[in-house]
Amino acid sequence: MKFHFQTTFQPTADSSIIVPVLQENGKAKAATIVQLASISGQNADQLHELFQAKPGEFFPLLSPQGTYLLLGLGAEPSFWKVFKACQKIAAKQAALFAAQTGICWLCDNKHTEAVRLTEAMINGFLLGAYHQGRFKTKQPNTHALLKPESSCTICISELQLEAAKQAVNKAEVICQAQVEIMTLVNAPANHKHPHDIAKWAAESAKKYGFRAEVWDKERITKEGMHGLLAVNQGSAEPPAFIILEYQGQATNGHLPKIGLVGKGVTFDTGGLSIKPSGNMHYMKSDMGGAAAVLGTMEVAARMKLPIHLVGVVPSTDNSVDANAVKPSDVISSYSGKTIEIIDTDAEGRLILADGLSYMVRQHQPQVLIDLATLTGSSVRALGYEAAALFSNDDQLAHHLEMAGQKTGERVWRLPLWEEYGDQMKSDVADIKNFSGLPIAGAISAAKFLEFFTDEHPSWAHLDIAGVAFGDVPYSGGKAATGYGIRLLIEFMEGLKV
Ligand code: BES
Ligand code: ZN
Ligand code: ZN
Repeated sequence: MKFHFQTTFQPTADSSIIVPVLQENGKAKAATIVQLASISGQNADQLHELFQAKPGEFFPLLSPQGTYLLLGLGAEPSFWKVFKACQKIAAKQAALFAAQTGICWLCDNKHTEAVRLTEAMINGFLLGAYHQGRFKTKQPNTHALLKPESSCTICISELQLEAAKQAVNKAEVICQAQVEIMTLVNAPANHKHPHDIAKWAAESAKKYGFRAEVWDKERITKEGMHGLLAVNQGSAEPPAFIILEYQGQATNGHLPKIGLVGKGVTFDTGGLSIKPSGNMHYMKSDMGGAAAVLGTMEVAARMKLPIHLVGVVPSTDNSVDANAVKPSDVISSYSGKTIEIIDTDAEGRLILADGLSYMVRQHQPQVLIDLATLTGSSVRALGYEAAALFSNDDQLAHHLEMAGQKTGERVWRLPLWEEYGDQMKSDVADIKNFSGLPIAGAISAAKFLEFFTDEHPSWAHLDIAGVAFGDVPYSGGKAATGYGIRLLIEFMEGLKV
């Protein structure tokens, strides 16, 4: 999509113009309605009756002077609400969009939030236009917003023009990565092996100028990544261990070093502790953490963020055959610590244990964050509205919470009290991989991970099982959300340098 910028509104008959409208005293702002009425030749009073500008309210106004898509912002619009509304509109009202489109701020073109909300709108529209037709023999019609000739004209005040250009660029970069990781997460298991994840990572690194190294099974064995190898034991596909590194330009001689670790289970059958079949197909999304890490690496490199970012993705599927790891097996790990396997479905923590100790020992990041679709327990606790956050660093937790509030990719903190760790004590090994208790599963999983962080002082674990894959407007069933990139980029942009 090509973007153009204007400071005064010039309507064109064949375009669809999105007009964001604020609320004032519980009604659509009068000045905007009057302006709209005069542009479109409609009656202002009637328009005021028909459209209240409630958050997310949508009203298509078709006139010989063009199509105006009125978007209600409410009185205090948030990035997230606007993003969600736009995503839904683009997905459900595709027919209203022309290849020539625009976002026109009319009399609110100086609004302090106009730039950020423009970014939310573009992100929402472009994600809403996404579809999952990859494997259909008859391809669905291309959404007007995604046609090669499509363009979008942003109409905003002179004052905000430069900021708007930057915001539009950021929206595009983030959105492209979100779409790519959604395609990865949505890919079925037979089209997504560890090798494919590694290939994606290597291509992204080559394209955007960061470093990628992929360890094959031989190297993984040599390095002693026994957690990853144990999960891979029942699989027909070899594992991969992906290491990515981007180093930006320091500002004031300082370059914060951040380590991201993502769970890359390409399909989770549960192993011998096999899952019930009803929802097993959703387990193609068990690499949502890996996808978030890969997408964030790409965006950080493209935005040239002033950080040093290391991304690590251990990847395998969790399958069943005669060689599969068994409950009662005791395995070693990259850290040297031994693990008693109680439940082979608690596999994510085994591969993350290796990823985390590798990251801490070989890269020593100042901040360590892992993302994983780790437990059903976190979904039972928080549903689809927030990731479960665990951290031993209050300041880091606070910064992630703020980034979540700002982007709508919310997180909610749960405790890491010592007592929860007692559940993970093993009689035969250093730790066991499942407490055996039907309580506090997300927390005991986090305690297991903590055991492999070498007491890193600034670590956060995000259990994204409920937010990486869910109800989305572009799909009838559950599908990838693209969660994580916006949250992490917002967090890293806010780092003090
Ligand atoms: N991949 C699952 C967690 C999951 C559940 C992700 C639902 C997305 C949606 C994970 O590997 C798993 O199976 N966890 C078990 C752990 C248990 C055996 C200790 C769980 O949560 O039931
Ligand atoms: Zn599992
Ligand atoms: Zn899993």
